[in-house]
Amino acid sequence: MRALVVLLPLLAVPAQAGDIDPETAVAYRQASFGALAKHMKTTGMIAKGQVPHTGDLETHAVALNMLAKQLPGWFPEGTGPEASEKTAALPAAWSDREGLEKAAKALEDASAKLIELSKQEPIDLTAVKAQVGQVGRSCGGCHDTFKKDDDH
Ligand code: HEC
Repeated sequence: MRALVVLLPLLAVPAQAGDIDPETAVAYRQASFGALAKHMKTTGMIAKGQVPHTGDLETHAVALNMLAKQLPGWFPEGTGPEASEKTAALPAAWSDREGLEKAAKALEDASAKLIELSKQEPIDLTAVKAQVGQVGRSCGGCHDTFKKDDDH
């Protein structure tokens, strides 16, 4: 009985991926990329020694890594430029799904290396900085092909 009470509110939630309107899907996608960007910003500040929060590095690297795994899911069918004026995603994100997944994997792999570096004691900030650069290049690598008006 108790299990049923716990489950009922979940069943009442109507959201299915297919029910979400394109503008909401785009807003979610863009907010998710914003989250990636914030983790890059904090990571960069730590790597440059601007702040002493080296203990936070692993958290940001893990977040980047986990979000990279989710990333292809932010591009459901019907949420491209044909459906939304607000999206900066190019049609290639849907026509070249394999390429998109490969580019997401590059971010996943680069951030995995950053996780490893963040666990080292003492932490080697020079190596961390270089790897943050690699992670950044994986962001740019995808933008070159799948995002318009690239300025980063
Ligand atoms: C696999 C491809 C891919 C990777 C990897 C990727 N991006 Fe993007 N990014 C995109 C696309 C496509 C858009 C456009 C999304 C839209 O407007 O619908 C975008 C949009 C953005 C935006 C703009 C969000 C907004 O508010 O409109 C930022 C900021 C951003 N990315 C940062 C990053 C950072 C930082 C990384 C790396 C940590 C990264 N991206 C990795 C494809 C990628």
